[in-house]
Amino acid sequence: MLAELAPALERSASLAAALFRGPAAEGRLALASSMSAEDMVLMDIITAAALPVTVFTLDTGRLHTETVELISRAQAHFGLNIEVYRPDPSAVEDYVGRNGANAFYESTGLRKTCCGIRKVEPLRRALAGKSGWITGQRRDQSATRTDLKSREFDVAHGIEKFNPLADWSWQDVLEYAAARNVPLNPLHARGYVSIGCEPCTRAIRPGEDPRAGRWWWENSDSKECGLHVAPFVAAGA
Ligand code: ADX
Ligand code: SF4
Repeated sequence: MLAELAPALERSASLAAALFRGPAAEGRLALASSMSAEDMVLMDIITAAALPVTVFTLDTGRLHTETVELISRAQAHFGLNIEVYRPDPSAVEDYVGRNGANAFYESTGLRKTCCGIRKVEPLRRALAGKSGWITGQRRDQSATRTDLKSREFDVAHGIEKFNPLADWSWQDVLEYAAARNVPLNPLHARGYVSIGCEPCTRAIRPGEDPRAGRWWWENSDSKECGLHVAPFVAAGA
């Protein structure tokens, strides 16, 4: 078991060292956690190395029950506080009043407006005052992420952005999680790989693209919610 665990621990150690040298040393670095398997692995790495990194999640109000339940399970497992950011209720009320609760199925524009209200604006609040943020993005997750760097400058928010699992495969994530007993969203075992909001996510079939279950009614090149589409400047690595 130790031999199997070694590469993952080596990776986590070098990640921890890299982060310590960076904005984490200032104590203003935050992990954005959607409670995905990737983000659970990052929470494990952060807590195991006692990194001074805060963790937040964006609760859109449309998440699966399983995802919401995992927030408190993760807090108990890792012994950390997860800050929960929610959308502005008046913006949600206005959108739903004008367009209907599930208008995101009607057009990409209405879908992106919903993501803007429920994810992008709360993200701006979550990142206020931070010197950098960490995400669980990986290159092989999506056609839009093939050039993902492990460290970038996020021009939109004016802070550093780290994608430490950029070169990890889905298998790497699952193996790390199993080896370290990291709690996972039960939806992963039911065919969900990439998990977003409940009405905009479905399970995928074997052989399907990992993001085939996200906004499945749209073209693959539009499948981003706006959290990660700003022009980023690579900052090395
Ligand atoms: S998305 O842009 O399509 O929604 P994806 O679900 O692949 O993103 O997640 C990639 C990374 O974005 C996650 O590992 C996490 O760092 C961040 N992220 C996505 N959704 C959320 C969320 N609801 N709360 C916090 N972070 C999130
Ligand atoms: Fe709205 Fe769907 Fe985007 Fe969630 S993923 S914020 S429900 S459009």
